[in-house]
Amino acid sequence: MNILLTGGLGYIGSHVAVVLTEAGHRVTILDNLCNCKVEVLSHLAKILGSSPIFIQGDVRDQVLLESVLKDGKIEAVMHFAGLKAVGESVQKPLMYYNNNVGGAISLLKAMKICQVKTFVFSSSATVYGVPKYLPIDEEHPTCPESPYGQTKLHIESILRDLANSDDAWNIIALRYFNPVGAHESGLIGEEPNDIPNNLVPYISHVATGKFDKLKIFGNDYKTLDGTGVRDYIHVMDLAEGHVAALNYLNKKLPKFSIINLGTGAGYSVLELVNLYEKVSSRKITYEISGRRAGDIASCFANVDKAAFLMGWRARRSLHEMLEDSWRWVSQNMTIEL
Ligand code: NAD
Ligand code: UD1
Repeated sequence: MNILLTGGLGYIGSHVAVVLTEAGHRVTILDNLCNCKVEVLSHLAKILGSSPIFIQGDVRDQVLLESVLKDGKIEAVMHFAGLKAVGESVQKPLMYYNNNVGGAISLLKAMKICQVKTFVFSSSATVYGVPKYLPIDEEHPTCPESPYGQTKLHIESILRDLANSDDAWNIIALRYFNPVGAHESGLIGEEPNDIPNNLVPYISHVATGKFDKLKIFGNDYKTLDGTGVRDYIHVMDLAEGHVAALNYLNKKLPKFSIINLGTGAGYSVLELVNLYEKVSSRKITYEISGRRAGDIASCFANVDKAAFLMGWRARRSLHEMLEDSWRWVSQNMTIEL
């Protein structure tokens, strides 16, 4: 199939570009480069043998999108383009609603005009808010705690309404848990522009020596060792979940589905620190600091729906996630090891 990936030069989209191309699809990437480097394209070419088609542009440019959809004979769209920093979304909510919700609307309008009605959306487990029970299934109530999370929930509502309005739409919203790791080549991975907020990118740069120490945000949670527990999923498993989603959509069964993508297992901050030390053979210095505002003790997914509907389950271990993360950062760091 001819598939458009918006935001396809970013962390998740670039890994999805690899697995889709390897599965025989023809990938077109549209990205405005606001949170990625154009060099990702040449790294994709190294992995794949040739570069995906790339258009530099913004998803809010409906006219451009219409021409991309028509010229590329696009049959399905995977929508990764969006801003994703929780803290920044609290400071700049209009920017987030404009980019994320505005971007989705202009993309969907262009798709409707061009009669392209197969759509996979990057949603997030952040829409669930504070867990009322664990593991979290897709029926769990939603209550996002940040403007970022609200934009994801708004877009899901738009997608549900759209699917109800016209049977020709086939839509899946994938709610990602905590994507980590990198492609096994070490050529593509997560490249935060600023100081990372997320755990694995931060630990990895304590290992490289870029940061002195990790601050562990609280060790007094009701978890096995007191530190926060999350459902980390290898980005390549997540990427394969998108191929499974596409295959499911092509059966044209339901018009709109919401599906968790996680592993179903939770690991604590200290477990990650200890394992990162092993895979990197580096000391991860840390200190226990106060809890981070808005954090929760534990969060992990019920992944039965993905297995039942799409025949997909994550298969890579935490060890592989951290090993691949370390290969990526150690190959791409600019300071001496
Ligand atoms: P990323 O920032 O690495 O990738 C997003 C890409 O979209 C970037 O390359 C950026 O340049 C591009 N982009 C942003 N706004 C755009 C616009 N208006 N027009 C065109 N391009 C635009 O992020 P990611 O980690 O790859 O996440 C991809 C999607 O998955 C996002 O929608 C994010 O909210 C969602 N998600 C990510 C995580 C995570 O932990 N990484 C978790 C849950 C959901
Ligand atoms: C964060 C976002 C969430 C987003 C998810 C995946 C917040 C409040 N939530 O969630 O919306 O969907 O990333 O991108 O930002 N930790 C430390 N020290 C650090 C960093 C993290 O101890 O320097 C701990 C956290 O307290 C948490 C765990 O590590 O227990 C994981 O944190 P993180 O990687 O930021 O993911 P989430 O908290 O799940």
